[in-house]
Amino acid sequence: MNHMDNSFTYQPATDRYNRMQYKYCGKSGLQLPLISLGLWHNFGSVDDFTVATDMIKYAFDQGITHFDLANNYGPVPGSAETNFGRILKENFQGYRDEMIISSKAGHEMWAGPYGGNSSRKNLMASINQSLRRTGLEYFDIFYSHRYDGVTPVEETIQTLIDIVKQGKALYIGISKYPPEQARIAYEMMTKAGVPCLISQYRYSMFDRAVEAETLPLAAEYGSGFIAFSPLAQGLLTDKYLNGIPEGSRAARSSGFLQRSQVTPEKIEAARQLNEIARLRGQTLAEMALAWILKDERVTSVIVGASSVNQLADNLKALEHLDFTPDDLAEIEQILARMI
Ligand SMILES: NC(=O)c1ccc[n+]([C@@H]2O[C@H](COP(=O)([O-])OP(=O)(O)OC[C@H]3O[C@@H](n4cnc5c(N)ncnc54)[C@H](OP(=O)(O)O)[C@@H]3O)[C@@H](O)[C@H]2O)c1
Repeated sequence: MNHMDNSFTYQPATDRYNRMQYKYCGKSGLQLPLISLGLWHNFGSVDDFTVATDMIKYAFDQGITHFDLANNYGPVPGSAETNFGRILKENFQGYRDEMIISSKAGHEMWAGPYGGNSSRKNLMASINQSLRRTGLEYFDIFYSHRYDGVTPVEETIQTLIDIVKQGKALYIGISKYPPEQARIAYEMMTKAGVPCLISQYRYSMFDRAVEAETLPLAAEYGSGFIAFSPLAQGLLTDKYLNGIPEGSRAARSSGFLQRSQVTPEKIEAARQLNEIARLRGQTLAEMALAWILKDERVTSVIVGASSVNQLADNLKALEHLDFTPDDLAEIEQILARMI
């Protein structure tokens, strides 16, 4: 192995991989770590590059092999991919085959009619831009980031299939597709011999919309399932229990968590959930992640983090993944009272 970095010694691979648990992604031969790292926030040009670098190194050293990007992550849009590419170049030469790197296209990215939808034009241009920014030869997983409501699903999905055929991605996935469009996508991909590896949706104790249709549908078609914002952007941690701290996502102008989303109902629920977590010997963040991973259809959770310490806390979820029926019933009651 070629170690470019002098200040950091990676754990021997056996230690690294013993720390993590891996799971097959749907009916594929690809295993993903139960905890993946997302680069939506905290890896852009407005963020501290040293902290970003430390988080990627730490994650990899703990067996997190899967890094989730999108063309528009930043801010500025694109800068998370540029920074990740630089981190790879400076620290991970020789490790590419131990990593699963994902990107996506479909949200607003550049000016004009081709810069922000799910058309063939957008996806093809976007993957080329993303490969250039990251310096990669291919992505392991490339997603359609959303159904845009206008572009025929068939156009988007055929483009994903062609992206695999062109060697620009190994696997494909969909994100946030409504069930009707997801079914069309799964059918088409299966028929083309490029099945949907993975479906990416928001899923947490505070947002369970996927449980009704989306999660069963993904399982029906053999697609893996990966949950984004599993901590509800920080609401399912102890962070907001005593107000909105300075520097938190809800306090930052570049954060997607609005102050108005930090509601008294959510904080009260988080306080009660925090008590259950404490009795289980976990933090709320750890319990919130374990709670998602208890569903065998879920392949992985993508956490975000603004520090190595947060990532370290979140990884401790793996030490206690089981729930007693009483724990589950109490959690259900708390969540039911929120609605
Ligand atoms: N497909 C899509 O459309 C889509 C949409 C959204 C996200 N995603 C993916 O999912 C990833 C994760 O989303 P997310 O960042 O919203 O996930 P999240 O895990 O729900 O929230 C992460 C935030 O929670 C706080 N946090 C995390 N661990 C903590 C801990 N142990 N203690 C206290 N606070 C903690 C941090 O906020 P502070 O900054 O306040 O410290 C962190 O930035 C993204 O990076 C992206 O890859 C995909």
